[in-house]
Amino acid sequence: MGIVKFFDTTLRDGEQTPGVNLSAREKLEIARQLARLKVDVIEAGFPITSVGDFEAVKAIAEKVEGPVIAALARANKADIDRAWEAVKYSKRPRIHTFIATSPIHMQCKLKKSPEEVLKTAREAVAYAKSLCDDVEFSAEDATRSDPDFLCTVFGAAVEAGATVINIPDTVGYTTPEEFRRLLRYVKEHTPGICSVELSVHCHNDLGLAVANSLAAIEEGVTQIECTVNGIGERAGNTSLEEVAMALYVRRDQYAKTFQLDTTQIYKSSKLVSALTGISVQPNKAVVGMNAFAHQSGIHQDGVLKERTTYEIMNPQVVGVPSNRLVLGKVSGRHAFREKLREMGYEPSEAEVEKLFREFKLLCDRKKEVHDEDLQALLENELRSVPEEIKLEYFHVTSGNNTVPTATIRISQAGRYLQEAASGDGPIDALFNAIDRATGFNCHLIEYSLKAVTSGKDALGEVSLKLQFQDRSYTGRGISTDVIEASVRAYMNALNRLLMDTPGLVIGSEAV
Ligand code: KIV
Ligand code: ZN
Repeated sequence: MGIVKFFDTTLRDGEQTPGVNLSAREKLEIARQLARLKVDVIEAGFPITSVGDFEAVKAIAEKVEGPVIAALARANKADIDRAWEAVKYSKRPRIHTFIATSPIHMQCKLKKSPEEVLKTAREAVAYAKSLCDDVEFSAEDATRSDPDFLCTVFGAAVEAGATVINIPDTVGYTTPEEFRRLLRYVKEHTPGICSVELSVHCHNDLGLAVANSLAAIEEGVTQIECTVNGIGERAGNTSLEEVAMALYVRRDQYAKTFQLDTTQIYKSSKLVSALTGISVQPNKAVVGMNAFAHQSGIHQDGVLKERTTYEIMNPQVVGVPSNRLVLGKVSGRHAFREKLREMGYEPSEAEVEKLFREFKLLCDRKKEVHDEDLQALLENELRSVPEEIKLEYFHVTSGNNTVPTATIRISQAGRYLQEAASGDGPIDALFNAIDRATGFNCHLIEYSLKAVTSGKDALGEVSLKLQFQDRSYTGRGISTDVIEASVRAYMNALNRLLMDTPGLVIGSEAV
């Protein structure tokens, strides 16, 4: 059985999902989870793009062990230097450099001739190799490139020292059969190709990213680039969990192994969704809320008699929790800390203290506390940002015969901002009151509410997205009270906005 390596680009291509803006701390937490999932490579970011991304890649390179840590760089010296500066702290660093090879990209975007692109690619790989042993080269928009030119560029990259050659379907244009033909062509016509790792990177514009990646595996490709939950530019990237479970469930067909720990898939999906604010569609394969739910009577009857009648995967293999009761009101700090460890988290002492206080408050409001509740508290903590503005209190009146009105009191650096407003409903009234208090005119562009567990006293989790001027910010809040969860999510998004926009004046009237 051959081995397939998983190159995870959740923190780079995944972070290019519209509206996603991860902090360095969130990126580090996701990278730690990817290491627990045992991906082979973590593409931690694109260091030249911002100081924040550089710092995040550097922190991951310093602190996360196990996987290779890769950083992306365009095919120029400045990008490659910056990528190397960030990843050189890793025990297993990789520079990933790329240039476009399709006629449309070369002419319209790069404004370079094919000869210039060939020279640039060769020089970039040689320069990256002078810094780092492990160099990946990608031909952007490979599937719309001339196959002979593609092979020439790949040949030059191999000669210059590339250790991995990646074939991206950048715009999600190819189909499985066409992709297989291209891969065969590349393997037959690229000098030296059998001495390097062959990789593919598929986008999902036609919903074919997973099918194309699996077709590539059948053609002998040994590295798959993918993201958790399939997030990424436009329609996203190949979904890690779907490829992994296809290889696992259909090992009779693919005869491939991998080193991923599939029992970490569900947790990784939840963490990425919580920190990016991109929720997983209910019917998403492998990790969607309904992936293991059986609705019709016939199916339920079948599953009760024999699980495999309608279930091709055991939910435990992907780590779906079984709603276990974890701790109660009388549990102490020690048991609490141990429980967090058992769940794979290593929060600092200060974080344990804060989480423990929140856990005790939750015990007062909720009869039973489950793994998922604890996970939600943890994710909330990970997603927290410095609170430039704090919620002091809110009050809301609503009913079927009255205009919903809300009062809010917010504090910022020792001063208080208080406002009242009405709205279409209690949440709208509260958001309007917050906007009045801060003086920001935000548009709510997404709002979703879900219960973390079942039962009337379940924790409600609100995820939302705000638009402020030309940027969008995600926010998340949890509480057993859905109105409070909504206010907390709104405040969380505003604090992200404030972190991103230093010097923004908050509120005109201090009370
Ligand atoms: O989609 C793409 O072509 C990429 C490359 C940088 C690998 O993301
Ligand atoms: Zn991509």
